[in-house]
Amino acid sequence: MTGTTVLRLRDRDIAVDDTMRAAILDEMPEIAWIGDAALRAKVLDAWAAAVASAGFARIGDMKPSGNYDGLPLRHGTQADHIRSVARMALKIAEEMDTLFPDFVYDRDLLIAGALCHDIGKVWEFDPDNIARWKANPRKSGYPSMRHPGYGIHICLTAGLPEEVAHMAAAHSAEGELLTRSLENTILRWADHTFWMVAEAGAMLAETDDWTAPNKTA
Ligand SMILES: [Fe+2]
Repeated sequence: MTGTTVLRLRDRDIAVDDTMRAAILDEMPEIAWIGDAALRAKVLDAWAAAVASAGFARIGDMKPSGNYDGLPLRHGTQADHIRSVARMALKIAEEMDTLFPDFVYDRDLLIAGALCHDIGKVWEFDPDNIARWKANPRKSGYPSMRHPGYGIHICLTAGLPEEVAHMAAAHSAEGELLTRSLENTILRWADHTFWMVAEAGAMLAETDDWTAPNKTA
């Protein structure tokens, strides 16, 4: 894709260009697995704008944990978590599809939704936000909203389909209040599996001494 897309986040018009898109694709090459070109472009634009809106240079500038106060991975980035979840979700669907002809899922939506499921972490994991919430939790809440909440905002702002916004919105505990789609159910368990296996496999640090890189934007 070429050209500039402008997305408004945090009261700022963020111009997404090809350099920013290339950087996101470099961190999450699985975006190229999305067959529909328009959907693929929207995932790239959403992530590029989301990262820039928080002043991060890359997805990997976010702490590699499930929640802002959770223990981080010893190795690997937040992008690696998201990639791994997307790859696991697709494997689950492909496995079911292999043996059960009545299993019908939407491959593009599954990949796009899985790759966007934690996009709202650019809000929840923003060190400036965390410091502000910590200073006066009675005013802001702590956090003011979790990543699923802010993820809906980004997805809809970027013009992503309702099904993808649903996966960002309800992959986690928030989804207990509604009925998850098939693709979101697969994602929910792939995401849960990732963190359970990471814990059992001693992939999580024993203490949280993760320091956020300096913001660049
Ligand atoms: Fe996740």
